[in-house]
Amino acid sequence: MKKYAFIFTLTCLLACGSVVGDALAQNLPKAKEFRIERSMPKEAIACIECHKAEHPGLFADWAKSRHASANITCYDCHKAEGFDPDVSNEHFKQYQRSDHKYGTKEFKVPIAAVVTPKDCSRCHPDEAKQYSQSKHANTMEIIWKIDPWLNNGMNSDFERATGCFHCHGTVLKMKDNVLDPETWPNVGVGRINFDGSKGSCTSCHTRHRFSVMEARKPGACGQCHLGPDHPQIEIYMESKHGDIYTAHGDEYNWNAAPGTWTPGVDFRGPTCASCHMSGSGTVLTSHDVTERLAWETQAPLTIRPENFKPFPAKTNWQTERDKMKEVCKQCHGKVWVDDHFVKLDQNVEEYNEVYFKPAKKMLDELYEKELLDKTKFFDERLEVEYYELWHHEGRRARFGAAMMAPDYAWWHGFYECKKRYANFMEEARELIQHNKKAYKAEDWPNATGNTTKPKEVFP
Ligand code: HEC
Ligand code: HEC
Ligand code: HEC
Ligand code: HEC
Ligand code: HEC
Ligand code: HEC
Ligand code: HEC
Ligand code: HEC
Repeated sequence: MKKYAFIFTLTCLLACGSVVGDALAQNLPKAKEFRIERSMPKEAIACIECHKAEHPGLFADWAKSRHASANITCYDCHKAEGFDPDVSNEHFKQYQRSDHKYGTKEFKVPIAAVVTPKDCSRCHPDEAKQYSQSKHANTMEIIWKIDPWLNNGMNSDFERATGCFHCHGTVLKMKDNVLDPETWPNVGVGRINFDGSKGSCTSCHTRHRFSVMEARKPGACGQCHLGPDHPQIEIYMESKHGDIYTAHGDEYNWNAAPGTWTPGVDFRGPTCASCHMSGSGTVLTSHDVTERLAWETQAPLTIRPENFKPFPAKTNWQTERDKMKEVCKQCHGKVWVDDHFVKLDQNVEEYNEVYFKPAKKMLDELYEKELLDKTKFFDERLEVEYYELWHHEGRRARFGAAMMAPDYAWWHGFYECKKRYANFMEEARELIQHNKKAYKAEDWPNATGNTTKPKEVFP
C-alpha cells in the first residue's frame, strides 16, 4: 500500500510557464492533476514535467492510468542501458535544453521508445509468460512456416509493412541510428523486439492508459479480427451476444478489478475477452488465447490444436473444450451448451469432408499431372480459387457456427463454399479432360517481397 502522506500537488506548474496564454491553457486536457511522490527519482520527475508540457495528450493518458496512481513512472517502463540497440540517441539532446528546467544534464538518463513484454514482465510476470506461449506472440514463426505470400514472395515488402505486419508484427530494426520506418511504429501481436521478447502488450491495452476496460471490449480485438478471412468482430456483432452488448454494454461494469469480472454481476452478455481470456467460474484468466480452443478452425483442414504442426499447442483439446463450456455455463444450462458444440463439431466435419478434402485431392491431382505448376502459389486461377475456398468462405462457415452467427455460417459461409467448389471442380475437370495446362499469370503484380526467413526468428 502506498502512503500519500508525503505527496504534494504540482497542479500550479501547469498554470505557470505563463508566456503561454490563457487560450492555450484552456486547451490542455482537463483531468491533468497528478500528485508526484517525493520518493520518485528526480530523473523520473523530469520525464513527467517535461512531457506534460511537450505532449499533454500522452501525459494525460498516463496520469489517469492505474500506473500513475501506483507511482509507476515513465522511467520504470522506458528505462534503457546506454548499450541497448534501441536506445534513443536523439533523446539525449533533450538534456541540453536551456528553455526547460528539467532539460539539463543533471537529469540525463538513457531511454528507449520500445517497451516490450519483457519490460512489463518485471511487474506482470504471469501475463507475460502466458502471452509468450500464445499463438499471438509466436505468429511470426507460424506465418513464415506456412504462408505462400511470404515464402513465394507473391506481394511486395511495402504491402506487407502496411498490411500483414501491422497486425502480425514486424521484426524491429534500427536504421541510421533511429528505428527503421519500415518496421516502426508497430504494435502487432507478434512483433520481434530487440531484447528477444515477442509481441507488444499495447496490441490490446493502448498506451498510456493500459486499461483492462479497453481490452475487455470487443473493439480491442476487432481491429485485427475482421474482414473476409477472419470476420470475428462482424460475427460477434451479428450474434445475440453482440446484440446484448449493443443494448446493455453501457451498463456493464467494465472496470471491475482484474480477474474479478463476473458474468451476471458485471455483465449480462459475453465479449471476445469473456469467452477467450477473462476468468469465469473455475476457469482462470489467461493471456494465452490458444487456451479454451478445441479446433484449429482457421486452418485449411480443421485439426486439433495439439496437431497443428507449425506450432503444436501444449494443450489437450478435451480439457480446453470443458473450459470453454464452463464459461458458457455461467449463463446457460448444460444441454443448451452441449448442443451448441454438437452443432459446431458437425459443421467442422461437414466442411472437412464435403468441401476441403475433395478440393485438396483435385488440386493434388492437377499438380501431379503437371496441369498446374507447383513453383509458385496464386499465379494460376485454380490456386486462388482453392485458397479462397478454405481461407475465406470455408473459415467463415466454421467461425459463424462457432460463434453463433447464422449469416456467416450460411450466406457468407457454406453458400459461398458450394458456389466456389462447383466452379473449381468444373474448371479442374476441363483441364484434365483436355490435358490442358492452366493459364499462368505472367503479370502477377509486384511479386517482389523478400523470401528469406527472418534470422531473428529462425536463427
Ligand atoms: C526536457 C524535456 C524532456 C525530458 C526531461 C524528457 N523528455 Fe522524452 N522527449 C522530449 C521530447 C521533446 C521528445 C520528442 C522528441 C522529438 O519530437 O523530436 C521526447 C521523446 C521521448 C520518447 C520517444 C523517443 C523516440 O525515439 O521516439 C520517449 C520514449 C521519451 N521521450 C521518454 C522520456 C523519459 C522516460 C524521460 C525521463 C527519463 C524523458 N523522456 C525525459 C522531452 C523530454
Ligand atoms: C507501463 C509502462 C509505460 C509507462 C509507465 C510509460 N510508457 Fe511510454 N510507452 C509504453 C509503451 C508500451 C509504448 C509503446 C511502444 C511500443 O510499442 O514498444 C510507449 C510509447 C511511448 C512513446 C512513443 C510513442 C509515441 O506515441 O510517440 C513516448 C514518447 C512515451 N511512451 C513517453 C512516455 C512518457 C513521457 C511517460 C510518462 C508520462 C511514459 N511514456 C510512461 C509504456 C509505458
Ligand atoms: C514497475 C512495475 C510495473 C511495470 C514495469 C508495468 N506495470 Fe502494469 N501495473 C503495475 C501495478 C503496480 C499495477 C496495479 C495498479 C493497481 O492495482 O491499481 C499495474 C496495473 C496494470 C494493468 C491493469 C490496469 C487496470 O485497468 O486495472 C495493466 C493492463 C497493466 N498494468 C499493463 C502493463 C503493461 C502492458 C506494461 C508494460 C508496457 C506494464 N503494465 C508495466 C506495475 C507495473
Ligand atoms: C487485419 C489484420 C491482418 C492482416 C492485414 C493480415 N492478417 Fe494474417 N491473420 C490475422 C488474424 C486475426 C489471424 C487469425 C485468424 C484466426 O485464427 O481466425 C490471421 C491468421 C493468419 C495466418 C494463419 C495462422 C495459423 O495459425 O494458421 C497466416 C499464415 C497469416 N495470417 C498470414 C498473413 C499474411 C502473410 C498477411 C499479408 C499478406 C496477413 N496475414 C495479413 C490478422 C491479419
Ligand atoms: C489479446 C489482447 C491482450 C494482449 C495482447 C495483452 N492483454 Fe493484458 N489483458 C487482456 C484482457 C482482455 C484483460 C482482462 C482480463 C479480465 O477480465 O480480468 C487483461 C488484463 C491484464 C492485466 C490485469 C491483470 C489480469 O491478469 O487480469 C494485466 C496486468 C495485463 N493484462 C498485462 C498485460 C501484459 C503485460 C501484456 C503483454 C505481455 C498484455 N497484458 C497483453 C488482453 C490482452
Ligand atoms: C494486433 C492484432 C490483434 C489483436 C488486437 C488481437 N489479435 Fe487475436 N490474433 C491475431 C493474429 C495475427 C492471430 C493469428 C496468430 C497465428 O495463428 O499465427 C490471432 C489469433 C487469435 C486466436 C486464435 C488462437 C489459436 O490458437 O488459434 C484467438 C482465439 C484470438 N486471436 C483472440 C483474440 C482476442 C480475444 C483478442 C482481443 C482481446 C485479440 N485476439 C486481439 C491478431 C490480433
Ligand atoms: C460466446 C463466446 C464467444 C465469444 C463472445 C467470442 N468467441 Fe471466439 N470462439 C468461441 C468458440 C466456442 C470458438 C470455437 C472454439 C473451439 O472449439 O475451437 C471460437 C473461435 C474463435 C477463433 C478461432 C480460433 C481458431 O484458431 O480456430 C477466433 C480467432 C476467435 N474465436 C476470436 C474471437 C473474437 C476476436 C471475438 C470477438 C470479436 C470472439 N472470438 C467472440 C467463443 C466465443
Ligand atoms: C454472460 C452470460 C453469457 C455467457 C458467458 C454466454 N452466453 Fe450465450 N447468451 C446469453 C444471453 C443473455 C443470450 C440471449 C438469450 C435469449 O435469446 O433470450 C445468449 C444467447 C445464446 C445463444 C442463442 C443465439 C441465438 O441467436 O438465439 C446461444 C446458442 C448461446 N448463447 C451459446 C453460448 C455459448 C456456446 C457460450 C459459451 C461459449 C455462451 N453462450 C456464453 C448469455 C451468455
